[in-house]
Amino acid sequence: MSTDDDDRDDGVAALEQAAWSMLPHAHCPYSGFQVGAALRDTDGKVWTGANVENASYTLGLCAERVAIFHALTHGARAFTHVVVATDTATPTSPCGACRQILWEFARDAVIVMVARGGARQELRMAELLPAAFDDRALARS
Ligand code: THU
Repeated sequence: MSTDDDDRDDGVAALEQAAWSMLPHAHCPYSGFQVGAALRDTDGKVWTGANVENASYTLGLCAERVAIFHALTHGARAFTHVVVATDTATPTSPCGACRQILWEFARDAVIVMVARGGARQELRMAELLPAAFDDRALARS
C-alpha cells in the first residue's frame, strides 16, 4: 500500500528511502562522506548505489555512477528521477563527472538532493549541466 506521501509525490518518497538505505553500504574510509543514490527508470524500477573509495584515491566512484552503471548493465536505458542522499545539513549536488554520465541517459530526469536534516533541492538535469557536450556535437562534426 502506498503512503500519503507517495500519492502526493508520485513515488519520490519511496525513492528517497531507497537512497537513504544505501548510506551504510558506502565504502568511504578516506573521506568519511557517505552518499546514497537511487534512480528510477522509465519502467518504474529502482536502482541504487553508494560511493566506493580506494586507497588509490582517484579510483573511487561516486554513488550516482555506481547506481547508473548497475542499471545500465541490467538493461535500463532511461530514467525519470535521481535521488542523492547525504548526512549533511544542506543538499549535495552530483559532481561534474556524474552530471556528464547522467546527461547521457537521464537528460529529462529530476535530480532530488536530500540532506539528513530535511533540507532538499530539486533540479532538472538541464539546470545542472547547461551547454552539455553530448552526441549532438559528434553528429555535427
Ligand atoms: N561523492 C558521491 O558519491 N556523490 C556526489 O554527488 C558527491 C561526492 C563521493 C565521492 C567520494 O567518495 C566522497 O563523496 C567525497 O568526495
